[in-house]
Amino acid sequence: MEQYIIKGGIPLVGEVDIAGAKNAALAILAAAIMTDETIVIDNLPDVRDINVLLEAISGIGAIVTRVNRSTVKINGSTISDVSVDYEYIKKIRASYYLLGALLGKYKHAEVPLPGGCNIGSRPIDQHLKGFKALGADVDILHGSIIAKAENLHGSHIYLDVVSVGATINIMMAAALAPGRTILENAAKEPHVVDVANFLNSMGANIKGAGTDVIRIKGVEKLHKTEYSIIPDQIEAGTFMFAAAATGGDVTVRNVIPKHLEATTAKLQEIGCEVEEFDDAVRVRASRRLRRTNVKTLPYPGYPTDMQPQITVALSIAKGTSIVTESIFENRFKYADELCRMGASIKVKGNSAIIDGVEKLTGARVSAPDLRAGAALVIAGLAAEGITIVDDIVYIQRGYEDFEGKLRSLGAEIEKVTCEKEIQKFRLRVG
Ligand code: EPZ
Repeated sequence: MEQYIIKGGIPLVGEVDIAGAKNAALAILAAAIMTDETIVIDNLPDVRDINVLLEAISGIGAIVTRVNRSTVKINGSTISDVSVDYEYIKKIRASYYLLGALLGKYKHAEVPLPGGCNIGSRPIDQHLKGFKALGADVDILHGSIIAKAENLHGSHIYLDVVSVGATINIMMAAALAPGRTILENAAKEPHVVDVANFLNSMGANIKGAGTDVIRIKGVEKLHKTEYSIIPDQIEAGTFMFAAAATGGDVTVRNVIPKHLEATTAKLQEIGCEVEEFDDAVRVRASRRLRRTNVKTLPYPGYPTDMQPQITVALSIAKGTSIVTESIFENRFKYADELCRMGASIKVKGNSAIIDGVEKLTGARVSAPDLRAGAALVIAGLAAEGITIVDDIVYIQRGYEDFEGKLRSLGAEIEKVTCEKEIQKFRLRVG
């Protein structure tokens, strides 16, 4: 089992390049099968979730060619199976994007129903509501969602909750559903816009992505394109908070600063200086951080995927902060781990009350999920002494070469697999 070992207390300094957005890439890869022509996708992050989805896509018969680490070619003309294997959905929920893509293209898709996950129950009723409105019969049989239609047609759909996944899945199916679809109360996340731009570059007619009403005019078919994925706002935000928590000075490059506004605003509130450039953001923390309150919200609000990272920074800020999680019900699992490092956090319902402490101390902790795992690494970087983070497989799902990028900023962090390597690290860092 791989672990990270970290010697904390070193301010991160330097420049780091951000990869393409995982959550945009997952949807775009699924959408790429919607034409029989070859799609080239660039700025793909080399992370586990992406690699599993590529396997799922070749599992249904598409030709997937990895041109290099960040570029892939997909040709969906050879798809022989509209049924996705449970093995993939077990590993990544986002393989449910194949539902919208296959339904749009073949009017038939079978995808195992994803279960709950480490951040809480995650229903997909809004996805299914959308498919039904587009004319599909949707059944759940033997643990799989079976969506089938003689013909799809445009429809007027109101989402009862703002859902990134439902917005994207419905947008994909509707792109090839004759007639007009109006999707109201749509999610506005940058990756929703990226997927719409991608589909439009394939010949779809989607307008309004990025607002809460998306209008789609179904087209007969989609065609080849070459597309570069937007930068990952959550990876960028994670490095920004790593700079803040370690009292560092980090420039994150290859970002769209507009997508980082909520994160930037909170960093400024807690006492960091944030400088914006065309495609980079510099974060400097030259004094002790200050308290604040934050509530996670759909975009453009503060992202739930940045909730654990800000909690770590607030755990060593001056004063008492309240962090409220309004998207997922079970996203404070890491708080107990952070308390083992000396933080003072009480979780009540969907809020965490954080009394800032002077310092954290290194401990052995375990990553409960992707973002919480990254946050525990930040805690380790800020803490006095040695921290070992277990279960880093979660972190590898969404961060490309996390330890390498942190090392380039001066961090003492290594991936280890056995006690001998841990001892070697301890001897080296003293
Ligand atoms: C996406 O998940 C992201 N995943 C998540 O990123 C992210 O946390 C989340 O959006 C919120 O921004 C991907 O893009 C692959 P939702 P998604 O549907 O689409 C409820 C990460 O760390 N809901 O926007 O599954 C749901 O329970 C991950 O990278 C319904 O009730 O999230 C939640 O409370 C984790 N019914 C809220 O809506 C539905 O049909 C928002 O979920 C769908 C969702």
